[in-house]
Amino acid sequence: MGTRGYRRLLEANERWVAERLAERPDYFARMAAGQDPEFVWIGCSDSRVPAETLTGCAPGELFVHRNVANQVVHTDLNMLTVLYYAVQQLRVRHVIVCGHYGCGGVAAAMSRRDFGLINRWLQNIKDCAERHQDELAALPDEAARSRRLVEVNVVEQVDHLAKTSVIQRAWKAEERPWLHGWVYDLATGRLQELVRRTPEDLPHPVHRYDLDEG
Ligand code: CO
Repeated sequence: MGTRGYRRLLEANERWVAERLAERPDYFARMAAGQDPEFVWIGCSDSRVPAETLTGCAPGELFVHRNVANQVVHTDLNMLTVLYYAVQQLRVRHVIVCGHYGCGGVAAAMSRRDFGLINRWLQNIKDCAERHQDELAALPDEAARSRRLVEVNVVEQVDHLAKTSVIQRAWKAEERPWLHGWVYDLATGRLQELVRRTPEDLPHPVHRYDLDEG
């Protein structure tokens, strides 16, 4: 494989710029002026799950965070910064966690293979599998278990969001954002809703914060 293939991306960018400017001469001037996205997308890094493409969103509509297996980890400063900025400053209306069937991260977590450093990240999914072990064990085969773990993993990440003070503060003050758990099917291209949490859906009391104004 040659190393010149990357040029295709730069050339495509030139065409894309020309198309945008043909539509609207001020397209980039408007983009540069600021953003007001309605949605946060927390998805998997997998190249086959491009957030904007599969939701028909244009630049400016999605505030995106992606990592392996769409995790919401309470100590992940990267994810928390995205969430805080989007909820507190950009005042998004919806936060979407989107998993996908055939997720390599979930498959790796289901295996017993030692991935070195990566074990630390996959452990979150292993813990999720352990919490749902009875349900998973009752399924007929590995493929079914994998699909179900993808789903319950998404639901758990949505619940992790509800446990953050960032979300609870916005829920209390402005009754937004709604939290959504979706799964994407690589084989059909379809998104499916798994769960939705609104400001009435506070987590277990041990996870609730006493929030002052401001
Ligand atoms: Co994945």
